[in-house]
Amino acid sequence: MAIISSSNQEPSKRIDKEKRIVENIKLGEDSNELKLRPQNIDEYIGQKKLKESLKISLKAAKQRNEAIDHILFYGPPGLGKTTLSMIIAKEMGSNIKITSAPALERPRDIAGILMTLQDFDILFIDEIHRLNKVAEEILYPAMEDFSLDITIGKGHSSRIKRIPLKKFTLIGATTKMGSLTSPLRDRFGIINRLEFYDIDELQKIIERSSKILNIDIDSEGALEIAKRSRGTPRIANRLLKRVRDFAQVNNKNIIDKEIANLALNILNIDEKGLDQIDRLLINTIIDSYRGGPVGIETIASAINEDITTIEDVYEPYLIQIGFLNRTPRGRIATIEAYKYFKKL
Ligand code: ADE
Repeated sequence: MAIISSSNQEPSKRIDKEKRIVENIKLGEDSNELKLRPQNIDEYIGQKKLKESLKISLKAAKQRNEAIDHILFYGPPGLGKTTLSMIIAKEMGSNIKITSAPALERPRDIAGILMTLQDFDILFIDEIHRLNKVAEEILYPAMEDFSLDITIGKGHSSRIKRIPLKKFTLIGATTKMGSLTSPLRDRFGIINRLEFYDIDELQKIIERSSKILNIDIDSEGALEIAKRSRGTPRIANRLLKRVRDFAQVNNKNIIDKEIANLALNILNIDEKGLDQIDRLLINTIIDSYRGGPVGIETIASAINEDITTIEDVYEPYLIQIGFLNRTPRGRIATIEAYKYFKKL
């Protein structure tokens, strides 16, 4: 499986943009990030229900010798949307092209990628809720009829030329399901929400990653990191690496509960995995707004964070652990939050 990626990470290098989208960048197969990603669906830990239904869809598509239906993955960042998409490509024996909506600025960006796709290839578009209208309209016939409708000429003499495309699968990923337009949402045959992982699953992921990275860790050490990973594999793997650094400079050759605890305390991550910003967010609602309700704009300016980051990164986990409620009148800190921060 070839993994081809294009991104829009460096706006300063705009001249290279065309090149980046059309030529694409090959990710190094041996990079650490890729090494930690599970390679097939059975290696993938967690998301049990999603995996089961995906296995059926994959099997059915293969039996019929068809591309798998277009898929939409939504949920908080770091839960494995890209990883699952890579696995799907591998299971289908096809290639995956990875891009994100902000990189698809001009009609020719998306059209160019669509024309390079082969039968059963996967086109992965991250942050799909950020697609502009023109790009979205190009996608509609592409998804529905596998055709690219190009307008040639301008005004009265313009006409539409239909170019047939190969039978590809679009996988869209978003942290903001509510921001997707309904015509786009309706064109996905499979829509799946990724859930936060439980501690047991995160512990397994940490043990698996430790093996791959040659890190000695005991089960209690892995459990300690798992508890503080906010239900998120990406955070679990990141914390594992930080704890490894800490163990190494302290001449400990195995990560146990004690060293994990010490390291995570120094990193300012508490027993529930909350970092400084999580704590600031809740404490601001409690201390400055009597527990709420308070509007997201007010919170954002009070803690100096942008609204999107608060909504996509911080709030989902705080809601999940029952510390925060979103109401039509604003955000509210719960009794559980008051108890945890000893504010009662
Ligand atoms: N690494 C990151 N996410 C993973 C997952 N869901 N299963 C196994 N390893 C992972």
